[in-house]
Amino acid sequence: MRKATITGLGKYLPEKEITNKDLEEFVDTSDEWITKRTGIKTRRFAADDVTASDLGVKAAEEALEKAGIKADDLDLIITATITPDMMFPATACLIQDRIGASNAGAFDLEAGCSGFVYGITVASSFIESGLYDNVMVIGTEVLSKILNWEDRGTCVLFGDGAGAAVLQPTEKGGILASDLGSDGSGGDTLYQPAGGSLKPASHETVDNNEHYLYMEGTPVFKFAVKTMGSASLKVLKKAGLDKSDVDMLVPHQANTRIISSAAKKLKLSEDKVYVNLDKYGNTSAASVPIALAEAEEKGLINNGDTVVLVAFGAGLTWASAVMKWNDLK
Ligand code: UT7
Repeated sequence: MRKATITGLGKYLPEKEITNKDLEEFVDTSDEWITKRTGIKTRRFAADDVTASDLGVKAAEEALEKAGIKADDLDLIITATITPDMMFPATACLIQDRIGASNAGAFDLEAGCSGFVYGITVASSFIESGLYDNVMVIGTEVLSKILNWEDRGTCVLFGDGAGAAVLQPTEKGGILASDLGSDGSGGDTLYQPAGGSLKPASHETVDNNEHYLYMEGTPVFKFAVKTMGSASLKVLKKAGLDKSDVDMLVPHQANTRIISSAAKKLKLSEDKVYVNLDKYGNTSAASVPIALAEAEEKGLINNGDTVVLVAFGAGLTWASAVMKWNDLK
């Protein structure tokens, strides 16, 4: 049966590294608090004139090269982001133009930090149905531009970066199952209050810092602990697999305590869980593809491995996918 598989991965992290110690200079925080409560040590910030599409283009070009296809072979580009260059047009269209994907449709997908896993689920459906052969999914974020430096509970958590994957048809392995979930009743625990049609940007919204990311950490934490493990187990069941079959879990990189609780539910040892949030912080929709690209680059994911991707985020949303890994071209 025709399935979709990842044939190329790319990632891009801006050069500028900000350590917890650097943050101590201007935020009422400490390296000790951030490390202990989150696991984060450093994060990358893009330069002032760099956008989500700039980072996305770099990740996309690497993914195309690894897949061995050209931009004009792409049928579709899906970009997951909560920090688009503009409300519209879609960042996916800006990337489509810049990489020269002249035969591709393009749209943005908004599912918070679950966006990339949502994206590969949509991409797989297009491929499994036979409608498309070459689909690119990009997660790209410049979260540094929407951080409220007066809110120490959120500004220390996030970083910038992009990851991308090319998906193509396969007759063997690939994405076996995925599962998407949402609970909009929790939307007001993680959101950007102003700038949309509910509260158009005004002097007042800017004065009130409502154009920045707002989060209530504790309910989001509890939601994440509840969903990350259960979503992983659910997708394994859908694929007819058991938790003992998992070779690598690539979770959304938000907090080591959240990741550990998911790993515990799957009874996974540390070497079967990929963690890089110590280096990059939470890069929202970019976190899973960056982690996946890095794990593959390090040789930690090999042909035939069972890999689970799982994420949670604004919406609130959650998403999981399980794949039988095919070595990249
Ligand atoms: O990708 C989706 C996005 N969401 C997330 O990644 C976040 C999910 N939530 C979390 O990871 C955790 O809730 C946080 C890391 C955000 C917070 O951890 P917590 O253990 O829930 O801490 P808390 O919010 O309950 O705060 C504990 C204390 C408070 O002080 P008091 O009231 O106990 O005196 C805070 O004021 O820590 C204080 N605090 C800080 N102290 C130093 C909060 N932020 C900081 C900080 N530095 N940056």
